[in-house]
Amino acid sequence: MDIRLLRSSDLPLIQHANLENLPENYFMKYYLYHALSWPQLSYVAVDVSRPKKTPYDYPKIVGYVLAKMEEEPTDGIQHGHITSLSVMRTHRKLGIAEKLMRQSQLAMVETFGAKYVSLHVRVSNKAAIHLYSKTLGFDREKIEEKYYADGEDAHCMKLDLSSIKEQVAAFAGGPESEDDASEAEDEGEPVGDVGKAGDEGKQIPSRPKETKRKVKVGRPLGVAGLVEKDESKHP
Ligand SMILES: CC(C)(COP(=O)(O)OP(=O)(O)OC[C@H]1O[C@@H](n2cnc3c(N)ncnc32)[C@H](O)[C@@H]1OP(=O)(O)O)[C@@H](O)C(=O)NCCC(=O)NCCS
Repeated sequence: MDIRLLRSSDLPLIQHANLENLPENYFMKYYLYHALSWPQLSYVAVDVSRPKKTPYDYPKIVGYVLAKMEEEPTDGIQHGHITSLSVMRTHRKLGIAEKLMRQSQLAMVETFGAKYVSLHVRVSNKAAIHLYSKTLGFDREKIEEKYYADGEDAHCMKLDLSSIKEQVAAFAGGPESEDDASEAEDEGEPVGDVGKAGDEGKQIPSRPKETKRKVKVGRPLGVAGLVEKDESKHP
């Protein structure tokens, strides 16, 4: 089993899996909106053991997590949101959903500095509630009445991501950054004229250090109307 980032070419298979597994279905543009706006956050599980009938046979996608960052958080806190998660019946209870969720959570912290992740789940969905609360440690925040199109209530769930943030920071703060390490190890001889006899004492001009630029991502793409709840209610 291979867990990898979702690609735009996966979207028809994701939509198919969603239709098979969940009553909350979305237009293709909503999947595309996720893939283009937050390409770091959505993952697929691919059954790589499946024999290919032809060289062009697409590998089978058996699970996916579709995730995003909340664009205008009402609490002002940068956080992620799980839009949809499902695993095909043939591949359930193998730990696939847990792995997909953990990958997405890590990417939310690493890429966007998310403080927490939120989601909605049907109050009757025992398997998903077990996954979220027992396996992953989500808290039940509140119940949103008649959240779903058929009138069922939803649990609003939340997982604090600070422990993941600490793990990421501990990992990054361990050995020095790769750039520094490679500079320290470079004991090669000077090349060119610099360093030749007679050049001693000359100041070698230092290369300006490259500075990292902050780039804004996940900005609105003019699709403000593509609200998750509306999509499911008006397919
Ligand atoms: C919910 C769902 C995504 C779980 O996928 P999965 O790959 O089978 O889950 P995992 O194998 O990672 O299991 C994670 C945990 O959930 C438990 N679990 C999975 N299915 C369960 C079930 N039917 N009943 C009770 N617990 C279940 C596992 O035992 C495991 O618990 P553990 O960590 O205590 O051992 C899958 O059942 C599914 O696709 N359901 C239909 C779509 C859906 O409901 N999506 C969620 C919408 S909010």
